[in-house]
Amino acid sequence: MAEHVFQKCIDPNCGAAYGVEEVLTACPKCGNLLDIRYDWDKLSVPKSLKELEKYWTMRDVPQRFSGVWKFHDLLPFTELEKCVTVGEGQTILQNSAGVAKYAGVKEGNLFLQYEGMNPSGSFKDNGMCAATTHARMVGATRAACASTGNTSASLALYCSCLQTMKAVIFIGDGKIAYGKLSQALDYGAQTLQIHGDFDDAMARVKEVSKKLGIYLVNSVNPFRLEGQKTIMLRVLEALRWNVPDWIVVPGGNLGNSSSFGKAFHELYELGLIDRIPRLAVINAAGADTLTRVFNEENIRWNGGNTDRAKINAFFKQMNDEGRRANTIASAIEINRPVNLEKCLRALEWCDGVVRKVTDQQILDAKSQVGACGFGCEPASAASVAGTKLLREEGVIAPSDRVVCILTGHQLKDPTATVAYHCGDPQKFDEVLRPHGVTTCDFANNPVKVENDVDDIVRAIQG
Ligand code: F0G
Repeated sequence: MAEHVFQKCIDPNCGAAYGVEEVLTACPKCGNLLDIRYDWDKLSVPKSLKELEKYWTMRDVPQRFSGVWKFHDLLPFTELEKCVTVGEGQTILQNSAGVAKYAGVKEGNLFLQYEGMNPSGSFKDNGMCAATTHARMVGATRAACASTGNTSASLALYCSCLQTMKAVIFIGDGKIAYGKLSQALDYGAQTLQIHGDFDDAMARVKEVSKKLGIYLVNSVNPFRLEGQKTIMLRVLEALRWNVPDWIVVPGGNLGNSSSFGKAFHELYELGLIDRIPRLAVINAAGADTLTRVFNEENIRWNGGNTDRAKINAFFKQMNDEGRRANTIASAIEINRPVNLEKCLRALEWCDGVVRKVTDQQILDAKSQVGACGFGCEPASAASVAGTKLLREEGVIAPSDRVVCILTGHQLKDPTATVAYHCGDPQKFDEVLRPHGVTTCDFANNPVKVENDVDDIVRAIQG
């Protein structure tokens, strides 16, 4: 197996390659990000995606039960038996008439890919099973990440199940939703609250993991992104291998969008799909680095010839002006997305667009997902808010088939949900107003009622 898979620098002008037994989070030669690449000619690749259906009957094999490893043929970086699984990827693509109506998409054409159903409640488990598989391959005993909450919850869960690896997590002090913090603590992870934000935690975890030889599972880890490709494979599977017109995904550290681009590029190159869907990456307006880079600075992947000097100048100006991300969608409150260049590549491969939405738009969209679907955390609703915006602009046509990725479970961040719905002015002022939210138009207010049967009956009957 090992000779048919390798790590490769994404910069075609460098193109350095490394074995999969090496633990790398950047190209040692030029510092750019790495991909996992396969010599497909020497591997057994399915002739059609439909062929993958043969695994549906093998749910007694834990790896075939996994919504990630059932697609092992398309991410074969180690043998199937060696792959870590806790039952991730049992997700559903839900058709939502209510959300379609809200977003202005034709009924029947809007789908919600509900990743909150994963064991730790977010899409991160798709990547974490792959990263911990590689960590175990190289004999790691400790694994670390910086996180806005979901990566850390996922790593903590995998480590608690594996028992052979200790999780060390770095989080920005006061920057993480309670649902996520409670998971990391409960799963027994060593939890370091750094005085700073996600970007500070990210910079420190890189330094410390290098110094102490701890395995890093942030999305600079190319193995993690291999696992996340399968979110798109499950979307195709649910659509009986038909390609939708649009994939709409929230953008934070830009790992998901990068891995989706890679998934579609590979499927297309392998002749397994005949067209690539368009990708829309949605930032929160308060954390809009990609929007600025792509729409204002007009920086493109440009076949690998990205204007790095312009990117560096952009970040220098951001620092000089002291601009820091600030959004109620704390999961995507990120200034310096580590996968920026890979995401630019995905946007090129998928003829992509980038938009930003306000916290008001995010919370309104979130209330629709709650009322018409499984519910989600604020960051996830950026995909629905972004779809609505792109429909209003006419970029998405009303008859287009659109898949919105709901990245995290509703219970991850009850603070934002309760503040939106409860009608308590104090909570509104504390939680929502600082983020520029002015109305709760779709609030489902609880009714206060006396402890009395007649009063309760009157309240129910209006
Ligand atoms: N949605 C949720 C719920 C997330 O937790 C994240 C990222 C994203 C969207 C953005 O995804 O980084 O692939 O663009 N959360 C990371 C974390 C940063 O630490 O949990 P991305």
